[in-house]
Amino acid sequence: MHTMHTPSLPTSDLLLLFALTAPTTPIITKIKMTLISNVNDYQIVAKTKLPKALYEYLASGTDDEQTLAENIQAFKHWYLRPRVMRPVKDLSTVVTLFGHTMKMPVFCSPAGVHALCEPEQGECATAKACEQMGILFGLSQHSTRSIEQVQEAAPNCLKFYQAYILKDRQLTLRLVQRAIRAGYQGIFLTVDSVRFGYREADARNGFNALPAPHRLVNYDEPNTSSVQSTSNNSSGSSMEQTYNGAKHKAWDQNSELMFEQNLSWADVRWLKDQINAIAGQHHSRPIPLIIKGVMTAEDAQLALQAGADGIMVSNHGGRQLDACLASIDALPEVVDAVAGRAPVLLDGGIRRGTDVVKALALGATAVGIGKPMFFALAVEGQQGVLNTLQMLQQETQAAMALCGCRSVDEITRQLVTRHPNGTFGGRFFRAKL
Ligand SMILES: *[C@@H]1O[C@H](CO)[C@@H](O)[C@H](O)[C@H]1NC(C)=O
Ligand SMILES: *[C@@H]1O[C@H](CO)[C@@H](O)[C@H](O)[C@H]1NC(C)=O
Ligand SMILES: *[C@@H]1O[C@H](CO)[C@@H](O)[C@H](O)[C@H]1NC(C)=O
Ligand SMILES: *[C@@H]1O[C@H](CO)[C@@H](O)[C@H](O)[C@H]1NC(C)=O
Ligand SMILES: *[C@@H]1O[C@H](CO)[C@@H](O)[C@H](O)[C@H]1NC(C)=O
Repeated sequence: MHTMHTPSLPTSDLLLLFALTAPTTPIITKIKMTLISNVNDYQIVAKTKLPKALYEYLASGTDDEQTLAENIQAFKHWYLRPRVMRPVKDLSTVVTLFGHTMKMPVFCSPAGVHALCEPEQGECATAKACEQMGILFGLSQHSTRSIEQVQEAAPNCLKFYQAYILKDRQLTLRLVQRAIRAGYQGIFLTVDSVRFGYREADARNGFNALPAPHRLVNYDEPNTSSVQSTSNNSSGSSMEQTYNGAKHKAWDQNSELMFEQNLSWADVRWLKDQINAIAGQHHSRPIPLIIKGVMTAEDAQLALQAGADGIMVSNHGGRQLDACLASIDALPEVVDAVAGRAPVLLDGGIRRGTDVVKALALGATAVGIGKPMFFALAVEGQQGVLNTLQMLQQETQAAMALCGCRSVDEITRQLVTRHPNGTFGGRFFRAKL
C-alpha cells in the first residue's frame, strides 16, 4: 500500500530558522556542526556569517539570474533510469583524467579570491582539502595565494592552473610558465570572459574593489629574473591600479580591463604551442590544455581543432551571459561533437551525488564545484571543503549503487532520460532565502 508521509521541515529550513533566531555567531557555529547534512546547508550558514556585500558577490549571477537558477533546476528535468540486481558491493568512484587518478569524479573548479572566505590560508586551505580527498584542484589566475604558495601547501595534490589571456601576453605566458615550473599538471583556459557579467548586487553594494588586504597575488611576480618583463604594465602595482581602480561600480568590471577582448581560436593555438614549448623546457610530462566555458557543439569542434586536449562545459556559474542554457543542458551536444576525442568536464549546479551521476551519464568525465566550495570555506575553512567533498562522494556512491553502477565506466547514457514536464517543485534553497 502507498503510504503518505507527513512532510517534515527539511533540514535546510531548520538551519535557516536557527540561523535567523540565533543571537550570536558562536551559537550558529555550534548548530552548524550538528545540522549541516548536505552541500546546500553551507550556503545557508554562510549567508548569516558573511558580510552582505561579500555574500552577494559570491552568490549572485548576471541580470535576472536565470542561468544561475537554471544551472541547478535543469538537473531536475533529467531523471535516472536505475538498473537493479547488479552487484555493487565493491563499488568505486575512482576516475582517470589525463592519466591522473582521482578518488572521485568531482573537483574544485578554478575560481578566484578564496581568501575572501578563508583569510588565513586562502586557496591553500582548499587545495589541502583536495589533497586529502585525492581530487583535482583548479587554481585561478585571480587567486589570493600564489601559484608557488599553493604548490608548497599541497605538493601532492593534482593541480591545474587556470589562465585568462591578458592584454599583456607576456605576463599571461609568465604565469603559465610559473605554474608548469611549480608542478601544476594542466592548464584551463577560460574563454567566456572577454567581458565580465555585470552583477547588479555588486554595484548596489559598492563592491567595486578587492577588499584590503587581499590582492591578486600572482600579478606580484615574486621572481621575474628568469623571464624578463617586457613592460612595466606587468608589475603587480600597475595591475592593482587597474583592478582596484573603481572606474566601474562592480568589481569584476574593473578587473576585466586587464583582459584581452579581441580573442579568437588562433589564440588557443598560440597558447597550446607555448604550453608545449614551456613543458619541453621543463621536461614535464605533456600539459593538457582544457578550454573552459564552451557551451555549444560548434565551439567544442573549433576548440579541438585549435589544439585543446579537453573541453569544459561551463557558463561561469551563471555569472557571465545570463539566459544561456544551463550547463547540464549544454552538455549533451558538446559530448556528441567531441565524440570521445577528449574528456569533457562540466561545472554549474552540482549540489548532489545524483547530479554527479547525471552529468557522467550524459558524458562528462568529471564535474567541478564552485559556489559550494566558497560557502564551505566561509563556514569552516579547509574542514568545510573536505566535508562538502565527502558528502558529495557519499551521495555519489549511494546513487551509483542504487543505479546498479559499480564503477564510473558503468554510468552510461542509458541511465538518464529527459522529462521536460517534470513537476518537481523544488526544495531549491535559493527560493527560501
Ligand atoms: C600599458 O599601460 C599604458 C598606460 O599606463 C597603456 O596605455 C597601455 O595600453 C598598456 N599596455 C598594455 C600592453 O597593457
Ligand atoms: C628565481 O629565478 C632564479 C633565476 O632564474 C632561479 O634560479 C630560481 O629557482 C627562481 N626561484 C623560484 C622560486 O622560482
Ligand atoms: C612605466 O609606467 C610609468 C607610469 O605608470 C611611466 O611613467 C614610465 O614611463 C613607464 N616605464 C616604461 C619603461 O614603460
Ligand atoms: C582583432 O582581431 C582581428 C582578427 O584577428 C584583427 O583583424 C583586428 O585587427 C583586431 N582588432 C584590434 C582592434 O586589435
Ligand atoms: C509534456 O507535455 C506536453 C504537453 O502537455 C506533451 O505533449 C508531451 O508529450 C509531454 N512530454 C513528456 C515527455 O511527457
